Amino acid sequence: MNGNALLESGASDVFAIFRRRSCWIGLGTGILTLFVGVTFFLSSSIENSVLQRGFASKQAGSKDSFCHHSMWGYGCQRVDEMRRIFDSVKTELSTAAEKLDEANRELEAVTKEIPNKQQELQDIERRIEEARRVLKEVNDKHNVRVFLPREPLWPVEKSEGAFGEERKIRRGLSLDEDFDFGRCSITTGFRFFLYDAHSDHLLHQELSVHPNRLKDAKKVCLLVAFVSKGHRPSDLQFWKKDGRNHLLIALGTENVDFQKAIVLGDEMIHSRSPFHISAFLDVPGFDKMNDWQRYVPLLPHNRKVLLAYKGNLTLPELEDLRKSAGNSGDAVDFSPEADLKNAVFTLILPMNSSSFQRNIYEALLVGSIPVILDSDAVLPFDDLIDWRLISMKISKWRFSELHFILRTVPLNDILEMRRMGRIFLENYLGNAQVLSRTLISAIRWRLGLPSDSLKLQEAIPLFNGSFQAPQIAMEPKPRMEDEFLGPIEAPSDSPMFLHNFTSMSLYSYDLWNKNPYAVHSTMPYLANNVLMPSGVEFHEDTNTGFRPISPGSGKEFSEALGGNRPKEQFTIVMVTHNRDSVLSASLERLRDLPYLNKVIVVWNNVDRDPPSSWPRIHVPIEFIRAKTNSLNNRFIPYDRIQTEAILSMDDDIDLRKDEIIANFRVWREERQRIVGFPARYQARFGENIFYNSNHTCQYSMILTGAAFIHQSYLDAYTNHMQAIIRSKVDEWMNCEDIAMNFLVSHLYRKPPIKVTSKWTLRCPTCTETLSNDESHFTERHNCIRFFTEVYGYDPLLFTQSRTDSVLFKTRLPPDHQKCFKYV
Ligand SMILES: *[C@@H]1O[C@H](CO)[C@@H](O)[C@H](O)[C@H]1NC(C)=O
Ligand SMILES: *[C@@H]1O[C@H](CO)[C@@H](O)[C@H](O)[C@H]1NC(C)=O
Ligand SMILES: *[C@@H]1O[C@H](CO)[C@@H](O)[C@H](O)[C@H]1NC(C)=O
Ligand SMILES: *[C@@H]1O[C@H](CO)[C@@H](O)[C@H](O)[C@H]1NC(C)=O
Ligand SMILES: *[C@@H]1O[C@H](CO)[C@@H](O)[C@H](O)[C@H]1NC(C)=O
Repeated sequence: MNGNALLESGASDVFAIFRRRSCWIGLGTGILTLFVGVTFFLSSSIENSVLQRGFASKQAGSKDSFCHHSMWGYGCQRVDEMRRIFDSVKTELSTAAEKLDEANRELEAVTKEIPNKQQELQDIERRIEEARRVLKEVNDKHNVRVFLPREPLWPVEKSEGAFGEERKIRRGLSLDEDFDFGRCSITTGFRFFLYDAHSDHLLHQELSVHPNRLKDAKKVCLLVAFVSKGHRPSDLQFWKKDGRNHLLIALGTENVDFQKAIVLGDEMIHSRSPFHISAFLDVPGFDKMNDWQRYVPLLPHNRKVLLAYKGNLTLPELEDLRKSAGNSGDAVDFSPEADLKNAVFTLILPMNSSSFQRNIYEALLVGSIPVILDSDAVLPFDDLIDWRLISMKISKWRFSELHFILRTVPLNDILEMRRMGRIFLENYLGNAQVLSRTLISAIRWRLGLPSDSLKLQEAIPLFNGSFQAPQIAMEPKPRMEDEFLGPIEAPSDSPMFLHNFTSMSLYSYDLWNKNPYAVHSTMPYLANNVLMPSGVEFHEDTNTGFRPISPGSGKEFSEALGGNRPKEQFTIVMVTHNRDSVLSASLERLRDLPYLNKVIVVWNNVDRDPPSSWPRIHVPIEFIRAKTNSLNNRFIPYDRIQTEAILSMDDDIDLRKDEIIANFRVWREERQRIVGFPARYQARFGENIFYNSNHTCQYSMILTGAAFIHQSYLDAYTNHMQAIIRSKVDEWMNCEDIAMNFLVSHLYRKPPIKVTSKWTLRCPTCTETLSNDESHFTERHNCIRFFTEVYGYDPLLFTQSRTDSVLFKTRLPPDHQKCFKYV
């Protein structure tokens, strides 16, 4: 019965293959060949046995009839034996035939899938090919050889022509002629050398720890020296013949020839020159934890005096103004003891050149808007920061009209100018640390040199040198929602540092005036990076990376990202602490989520290593070892994050995939905002502000337990936000999400966006959620109150609307589909 045995074992092998059909895709045509081979062998062996047995049964049949008529017992026994064999073979044969049938059916089903899978494979191969092409193009474009600048292309005109005069404001100096760009290559970054003299000056101390400082004077672009009365700049060691590439910080010098050095002083100047900067230099040192306490809060506004002037000048015009104010019931305060803290505006009279910068600084410090009576005054760094946002400049010709002008300024403008004034102080002018950084960045900007990269935090892998856990493959659960939400594309990181040079032109205004945190180092991603016009996706030369949506809704919509930006992906960042099984389930739910780039799990159990295996999904899950168990870890700009879009998620949140994708699409249009699900707000009861999570028609926060945010906010939160806030988050073990909402609203002055109708989010099976207990809420009230004090105002902004997908709840003609089935 050899054939039979073969049949059995052959069939069971085939079925084994079928049982493991889940790996069919990978094995592809190899198995097909094997299968066809096996089937062929099977059928031939079956045929053989049929033939043999047919022959045998014939013989048996003849012997059978022979038995009836013969007396030969031995023959009869043999016949019985034969019949038994015949019967058994017959049954075997029919089971085998059934099995074969079944196998054939399965084969057919599988064969049908092959072209699909081959198609998919081809698609993927095509995409890889495409990506390679794009990468090559990009590389080609970027691999331009860089040469050190040598001489200016042509000598600068010496003529005294109309333009020649204007360009040489400070004793005929111009950057192109009198600065040696040959020492400043764009590839090495901006470096400066600091002379030792005046090392007790606060600015000197800050410059000496500036990251761009080098000790070797021969390798730098700029040499910085402090000079005071009695010092001759030309005595400086590396001055050479004319002091090129020097920056002199002048502390009360008189009649000094600065030659070709750039000079920073504190006097008033009237002519703009790249060789001269003026600012108030006598600033205090930086107090990391308490800097915010030096400024006055924005509210209550409560300023009784419209205009103040601190000084003992007695001009007839001032008397006129005092009278005019008296007539209309406005208070003014012109005296040497004037209380600027009580005044909306402070008059800056440019009579005394050496106190000009101090007067402006003092006004800003107490939240009074400087009114500068001089059309030509050059203000500190005003080629970069826009002083019109925080002060008013009025010609002295208009002094008689001043009262009229000031009366017209509405409250919202006043508050905004005061708010911005404080931002400029806190970030550019108000203490030695920010002033020194601003100084270096301003010069760098003038020279057109990109800075070093923003310092991303190096992540520490959790698993014994590896970020990825040993993984367990789980059987994919049958999917409840089999809505197609988007293609699973190969991992693609958001390209970094695309705007190194346009940061200094196209984005310069926005960066300096709206995101002061992003000017001192080159940002990998800009949240405000501009849109492309519709139509770029139609042209070969511009459509790289675009995934336009074909005409239609529903299916067409779900197949591509569309929008006015190239395709991109997002990273999920989760902080986890002591909820391994909850985390495991959350990870499992992310399987096959389209547009996901990777999942980063920050392991906050500092004293416990994780279990050794975690679910396997279609993208890498990277575990990062936290240094401390801190909620601030949620917002560390780890170097492992390689997309602009970040979905910040609690480890216990149960979001549906369609919700996530809808959210991602909305975020792509509003990248400067927090876009997500759980909406909260702050409300006043009696004298106090309270955190509130009740259902409401007006909200001001989206909790970062389930929200999209831009990568650049991680840097803002971790490296620039007032340090006291992070320290309170650690102390209270709470409120990092509120802090992030404060920060983003503070920077971009836009409320967050709530997406879809989902209101509560915590998973019902989790018992140990933080927010259950009462103290959690008490802390959150305190956070809102304290953060408001630190910012000097409550930056949160209210909104009364939420975003749903376009055809949500719209009645559609029968041949149309919704954008999403449920959201
Ligand atoms: C007021 O004027 C006198 C004389 O010019 C001067 O000595 C004094 O310093 C001035 N006071 C203030 C506060 O400017
Ligand atoms: C100018 O201001 C400085 C500093 O406030 C002061 O010492 C000086 O006396 C003032 N000069 C005049 C002419 O008012
Ligand atoms: C942009 O700047 C960053 C940070 O300095 C640097 O790493 C990157 O190579 C630069 N890219 C280009 C294209 O200059
Ligand atoms: C990492 O783990 C493997 C097995 O778990 C072990 O053999 C190896 O020694 C470990 N390496 C280090 C550097 O701890
Ligand atoms: C929230 O709503 C509940 C009942 O609806 C109410 O008792 C509670 O005071 C509300 N809390 C706040 C902070 O508004």
